[in-house]
Amino acid sequence: MDASTPAAWPGDLGPVFLSEDEIQERVAELGAQISSDYAGKDLAVIGVLKGVLFFMADLLRAITIPLAVDFLAISRYGPSQQTHGIVRLTKDLNETVADRHVLFVEDIIDTGHTLDYLTRILREREPASLRICTLLNKQERREVEIPIDYVGFNIPNKFVYGYGLDLDQLYRNLPYVAVFKPGQDQE
Ligand code: IMP
Ligand code: MG
Repeated sequence: MDASTPAAWPGDLGPVFLSEDEIQERVAELGAQISSDYAGKDLAVIGVLKGVLFFMADLLRAITIPLAVDFLAISRYGPSQQTHGIVRLTKDLNETVADRHVLFVEDIIDTGHTLDYLTRILREREPASLRICTLLNKQERREVEIPIDYVGFNIPNKFVYGYGLDLDQLYRNLPYVAVFKPGQDQE
């Protein structure tokens, strides 16, 4: 059995929400748009670990201009479904972003509190510009309104996991995005 098919996974995973093909097609479009928007600019792409892992890897390869890559890492208190937990920076940038054009990449934006916290930190570093790119956007959950420049998919208020996103720290390595199925093990 092909290891990338849902059937190869043990247990009762939720249904496929975004297939590998759908994701790759959209990532290619985003990469082309970003390449054209930032042509000739000093671009630094910054991702937040760990959820952004696969999206970042695929997006970077879809961008066809030179760029620098850096990561922030955060930890959050409380279970993954509760996104109000306190956010703490556990890894800062390695490079300076002053006077560079920063593209900040997230896996998913839900209430917007995490993004608000992280973009404040980035703005203090005085980049030449700061734009936001997210794979998934749950607009109806928004509590802090921040304009998003590049959105992979607008999704309804459902808990999703896979392709970097976790369900209680598991399933990040699913190659597609699944939607949570009620009754599935969770905290
Ligand atoms: P926000 O601060 O509410 O925008 O939370 C964003 C963070 O919540 C994301 O970076 C994820 O870590 C987590 N999150 C929100 N919704 C989901 C989801 O459906 N699946 C997995 N993680 C999620
Ligand atoms: Mg995240």
